[in-house]
Amino acid sequence: MSQPVVRIGVFDSGFGGLTVLRALLEQLPAAEFCYLGDSARLPYGSKSRETVARYAVESARLLESDGAQYLVIACNTASALALDAIRESVRVPVLGVIETGADSAAAVSVSRDVLVLATDATVQSHAYGAACAERGMRALEQACPLLVPLIEEGWTTANPDPERSAVTRRVLQLYLAEAAARAADAGMTPDTLLLGCTHYPLLRDMLGSLVPANMRILDSAQTTARRVQRELGAPAASSSSASSRRCRFLATDSVEKFQSLGSRFLGQPIREVEHIDLGG
Ligand code: DGL
Repeated sequence: MSQPVVRIGVFDSGFGGLTVLRALLEQLPAAEFCYLGDSARLPYGSKSRETVARYAVESARLLESDGAQYLVIACNTASALALDAIRESVRVPVLGVIETGADSAAAVSVSRDVLVLATDATVQSHAYGAACAERGMRALEQACPLLVPLIEEGWTTANPDPERSAVTRRVLQLYLAEAAARAADAGMTPDTLLLGCTHYPLLRDMLGSLVPANMRILDSAQTTARRVQRELGAPAASSSSASSRRCRFLATDSVEKFQSLGSRFLGQPIREVEHIDLGG
């Protein structure tokens, strides 16, 4: 007898969580998804714990009422600041990306020192620091508040204007130099770079050319997808078909903006997006 189709809710502050949805679509070929991007209220990364928790709880409840049997909080900031509040407010299992990101670092780091790049709010929460410490590692958490707007503007290596990607490259160099100085002061030797923000996978190539060749660059998307698959006992993917047709897309701001920006993060066109109003 075939297994019943499971419905998974995926939540992010906007578009970046589509990098996680992409891995979920590949890894769970029989599941259905509903993705909610709270694009009207982003960025979360510069907001307080109270505000992020309020927004994230509202969004999680909406996904649960839409029929989600399992929730993935794809947003690092919401996972760092609001995971407990979300778990208390819904009845279905909830997985955040901090734990899975730390798991992926723990699997490869030899020096047990990890450099984590993230938003201001995620860094201030020290959620990665705590998750790494639980796994016997030290985390050097570096806030990179300029990166989300630069990536959303498309100032990456994919931009046809090299002057624009050069600006992002320079900003990254400054953040990495600051992190290297702090690592030296703390006697840390990070051999692993964890992308602690949904947007940063779009800078992977650029980062690869700026960090030492032996530094591993990781994000939590694949580890998260494998964990969901394990927890749900879902069949493993036999092919890598990741069609977005198995996903309902909800956005709290312009559907056109979600379609155009979102397709860059998802790596394929997003055909239909529904607007939803969660209030202010
Ligand atoms: N999704 C957020 C994160 O992963 C980045 C964008 C935002 O600040 O809302 O931290």
